[in-house]
Parts: sequence; structure tokens; C-alpha cells
Amino acid sequence: MPTYGRLPVTFTKGEGAWLWDQNNTRYLDALSGIAVCNLGHAHPAIHAAICKQSQTLLHTSNLYGIEPQEQLATKLCQLSDMDNAFFCNSGAEANEAAIKIARLYGHEKGIESPAILVMKQSFHGRTMGTLSATGNPKVQDGFTPLLGGFIHVDFNDIDAIKDALKQHNNIAAIFLEPIQGEGGVHIPAASYLNEVRAVCDQNDLLMMVDEVQTGIARTGAWFAFQHNNITPDVCTLAKALGNGVPIGACLAKGKASTLLTAGKHGSTFGGNFLASSAALAVVKTIEDENICQQALEKGLLIKNKLATALKNNQHLIEIRNKGMMIGIELDTPCINLVQLALEAGLLINVTNNSTIRLLPPLIIDNKQIDLLVATLVTLINQNIQ
Ligand SMILES: Cc1ncc(COP(=O)(O)O)c(C=O)c1O
Repeated sequence: MPTYGRLPVTFTKGEGAWLWDQNNTRYLDALSGIAVCNLGHAHPAIHAAICKQSQTLLHTSNLYGIEPQEQLATKLCQLSDMDNAFFCNSGAEANEAAIKIARLYGHEKGIESPAILVMKQSFHGRTMGTLSATGNPKVQDGFTPLLGGFIHVDFNDIDAIKDALKQHNNIAAIFLEPIQGEGGVHIPAASYLNEVRAVCDQNDLLMMVDEVQTGIARTGAWFAFQHNNITPDVCTLAKALGNGVPIGACLAKGKASTLLTAGKHGSTFGGNFLASSAALAVVKTIEDENICQQALEKGLLIKNKLATALKNNQHLIEIRNKGMMIGIELDTPCINLVQLALEAGLLINVTNNSTIRLLPPLIIDNKQIDLLVATLVTLINQNIQ
């Protein structure tokens, strides 16, 4: 189906932050398959884990015990301070699990028709549930009737949340991205997530964070909520968890972790031997190679180099980053830069029309960082007038 506006290139191999196309032309990847390949391409530890697992078992279904899945659940819960994990195959599915948990939670509280507070400019996926939660009319266009039970408020505005709570008495949960990725790399005020946590505590609401893009070391912590020293009730993951092997997870704590009982939810593939083994290798590598710290340092380095090189560019509004989630907002549309960057051997992305988004592999080295900055700055200076 003509679902994707694809760029005119097909890659045939990769190594670390490099990709090669069919003509053996080399490209520097500053997008990581949209925040998926955080450990770069063809990482030996992931390769080895996939090969090893495929020699014994790929799949038996969730009707039986799956040892690597149990190990992965234990490890992720330990890293996130959560109690239980549900495994699926994508970010949208992880968020569907969260939405179902919120509804069960609301019903247990005696709310007849529970609603979830969600954010404008958010992105949570393309299934009908997650599309309805998403705060972007462009993504929703053509798909009415949307699912009910979502109330959209402004992101980074705690008063908007408090006002909505005064107006509606059926809210069971607040669901948000710690940093809005697709919406344009929007980083909220430093205390915002703490304030959301406090409002959830005061009103007996679940705090549910969508860490599909921000999770697994991208922002310089295992999970972005950890920058605020809080623990949510529900946390969803996907993208980088398998470094390219499809896997999603919904982690939950306390009451929220007990609601999806047998028969209430499921997935044929979710957390199978292959996906869980790959994810275990991802988690181990991130720990062994101190990748969170690397993401913090490299993200700051890229931001500072870009800020110095672009300081006289009148079109620059702001460079935002949390670790290796980087947004360069310009005062003018810049979607043309994606194709121009490709021609210059660099993969980037533009969100929200005028924000260049960089999500480089966290293992990118200093020489590659210099090349990334030099190529991008030349492109901006030459083409944005
Ligand atoms: C924050 C967030 N949530 C959910 C999703 C959907 O994930 P998937 O495409 O794996 O369904 C995305 C994808 O970009 C995302 O960025």
C-alpha cells in the first residue's frame, strides 16, 4: 500500500553508525531507524544473541513458560523500579496495554466510563486506541469515529491538568510522553513531571508515561522519568528495546501491575524467545558499555558544537536536547533538508515542519559527531535563507 513517503534509497548493510546503499555509497545515520538502533547496526552482541537463540527455539507462545522473557521482565522491573511487565511487539501495542490498564483501574474505582487525560501534540501510535489518544488532528484525519474516553490538554501546563480535573469527575489516569518526540522534541519544564506525579497522587490517578521513544538510554538515563527522580505507575517501551528486533513492553507498579489478569489481554508473539533474547542482549550491552553516560555526554557535545557553529544563523530559534534526543528548531519550514542531507550522505529527520530531529546511535564516535555537525551546519547555512 502507498503508506509511506519513502526516500529514494535502499540500504543493504550497516555497521555501527554507518549504512551502505545498493551502490555501496556510505551514509552516516543520525536517526537510528527512528530511535530504534541505539546500539547501532550489526552490533556483535545482538547478532550473537539472535544467532544463539535461533539454534534452539524462536517461539512457543505465551501458553508456556519463556525463560528469557522472565529474565527480561525481572531486569526491566529492576531498572525501572516497576513490579510487572507485559510484552508485545510495538509501541502502539504497549500503549494499548496501558490504556486497558487505565480503564480497568477506573472501573475498579467505580467510574462508569473512565477517561484518560492525554496531551495535545502527543504521539502514541496508529492503532485506533492510540490514534485516539494522540493529540494531532493531522494523524487522526479521516479516521472518525475515534475512540472516546480521551481528554486532551496542553503539554507542559500543570494548570491545564488541574482545570480538566475540576471539569471531569471520570478521569482515571494521565498518559504522556516525558519528552514529546514526534510533536517536535518538546522538553517540559524541569519540575513538570514531578508536578504531574503529585497531581496523580493527590487524585488517585495512574501516572502513565510513554517511553517508546525516550526509553532505553536515549535521553541519558534508562528511562526519561528518572531525570525527575519519580516513578510512574505505568511505563511503555518499544523501539530501542530490541535494537531492531520488534518488541514492546508495558511495565507497571503497584495496583496497576495486577489488573491485566489471565484472559484480559494477550499477544501471540509478545516476548517470544527471539525478541526477549535480543532485548536481554540490548540491556546487558547498555549496562556493560555504560551507554547511558555516553548518551548524556555525546548529546551535550553535539548540542554545544551545533550551538557554536550556528550562533550567527538568524533562522535558529533553539537547540533542545536531553541526551541524544536532539531538536533544532528553525523559524521556517525545513523539510527539504531531509533529502538534501541524504544526498550529502547523512540521515536526519524533520518533525513539526521546522524542527530538525537528530536521534543518532548512542555508540556514535567523536569523528562521526564532527562529520554530523559539519554536514548539517553546511546544509542549514546553504539552504535555509
Ligand atoms: C512516543 C511514541 N509512542 C508510540 C509510538 C508508536 O510506536 P510503534 O510505531 O512501534 O507502534 C511512537 C512511534 O514513533 C512514539 O514515538
